Amino acid sequence: MIEWLLFPLVITGAALIPKKQMTDKQKIQTIFENCNLAIKRNDKFHYPKFQREIKRDTYTTYLYYLPLGISSDQFEDVIPALKDGLNKEVEYEFKDGLLRVDVFESELPEKWSYDVTLLQPGTWEVPIGRNHKGILYHDFEKYCHLLCGGVTRFGKTVFLKEVMNTLILNNPQNVEIYVLDLKAGLEFSKYKAFPQVKEVACDVYESAQVLHQITNELKKIELYFREKGYTNIIDTPFKKRKFIFVDEGAELSPNIVKDKTAKKYAEYCQGALSEIARIGGGLGYRLIYATQYPTKEAVPMQVKMNIVARLSFICASQVASRVLLDDVGAESLPSIPGRSIYLVEKMRTVQVPYIDDKMIFKMMGEMLHVDTNIK
Ligand SMILES: Nc1ncnc2c1ncn2[C@@H]1O[C@H](COP(=O)(O)OP(=O)(O)O)[C@@H](O)[C@H]1O
Ligand SMILES: [Mg+2]
Repeated sequence: MIEWLLFPLVITGAALIPKKQMTDKQKIQTIFENCNLAIKRNDKFHYPKFQREIKRDTYTTYLYYLPLGISSDQFEDVIPALKDGLNKEVEYEFKDGLLRVDVFESELPEKWSYDVTLLQPGTWEVPIGRNHKGILYHDFEKYCHLLCGGVTRFGKTVFLKEVMNTLILNNPQNVEIYVLDLKAGLEFSKYKAFPQVKEVACDVYESAQVLHQITNELKKIELYFREKGYTNIIDTPFKKRKFIFVDEGAELSPNIVKDKTAKKYAEYCQGALSEIARIGGGLGYRLIYATQYPTKEAVPMQVKMNIVARLSFICASQVASRVLLDDVGAESLPSIPGRSIYLVEKMRTVQVPYIDDKMIFKMMGEMLHVDTNIK
C-alpha cells in the first residue's frame, strides 16, 4: 500500500523541484531556433554557431559564426524577439564573419546631468548621450552635419542647447553660431548675450536674411578654396567653424507656411539650407537641423541626403522613424525625455545629458566670464 502512495509523491516532488533557469546563452539559442534563423542543407538546419562569450562589467558579448547564406536582414528580424525574450537591451554587429550580440544587464539612466567633465577643449566633439558602454560623442569634423527629430517635448531643443554649450566652451575663439529658432526665438534669443552667437533669427523672414548672408559668404569661400586648391577645411590652417542651428525646421517648409509672401521666403530658406548641407561641410559650415515633423516636406531631400548622422527621439510612427533613421525603431523607444537613437554607421540607443538655461549661463559665466543675468 505504502508503495502505491509513494509513486504519486515522487512525481509531485519532481514537479516541485524548481527548473534550472535558462541562461541568456541558452535563451538566445532557443530564440534562433524558434525564429527559424537557419539555413537548411542536406535536410539539416544550420543555426548561428556559438563561438564564445565575453563577460564585462555591465554587459555580456556573445559571438557566433553565421552559416553562409544567412543575411544580416534575417538577423535583424530576430532582434525584437531577442529583446523580449531576454527582457534586456540588445545591440548587435556583424564584423569579420562574426555576429556579435551584446546583452546589457542594466537599464539606461532615465536622466543624467551635463557637466564640464564632458568637455574636450579644442575638439569639435560633442557628447550625444550615455549608453551601456559609456559616453558617445559626435565628431563634427568627421560628420559635419546632424539631423535631429522626434515628437515634441522629448528633448530636441535641450539637445541643441547642449551642443551649442559644448561647442562654445570647447572652442570659444573659433566657433561662430547662427540660430534659426522658429519657435519665435523663445528658446535661443537669450543666447545673443554670448559673443559666439552671431545671429538668432525668429521667423521665416529673419531666417532668409541670415541664410542669405551665410550663402553669400559660402560662395566667396568656395571661390577662395578653389583658387588655393583646398578641398576640405580640415586640411587647411583655418580653425574657424560656423554652425547653423535650425530648431523646428518644418516651419521653413513652403507647404506648411500659409502666407503667400512667407511661402516665397520659406522656399528660399530651404534652398539655402540645401546648399549649406551640400557644399558647406568642406568649407567649414556645420548644419544641425531639428524638426518635430520628419516628413519629406519638412526635411528637404538635399538636406537629408547630405546629412549622414542622425539623432531621433521617440517618433509618432514607423514612417517618421524611416525618414529620420532610414529604418524603423524610433517609434518604439520608451517614452522617456532624452531617450534617443543615434545613427552613425549603426543605430545606438542613448540617454542624452540634461542641461537647462541656468546651467548653461552658470558654466559660461564661470569658464568664459560672460556677463549674463539670467534668472
Ligand atoms: N536629455 C534630457 N534628459 C531629461 N529630460 C529631458 C531631456 N531633454 C528634455 N527633457 C525634458 O523634456 C522637456 C522638453 O524638452 P525639449 O527639448 O523642449 O523638447 P522638444 O524640443 O523636443 O519639444 C524638457 O523641458 C525637459 O523637462
Ligand atoms: Mg523644441
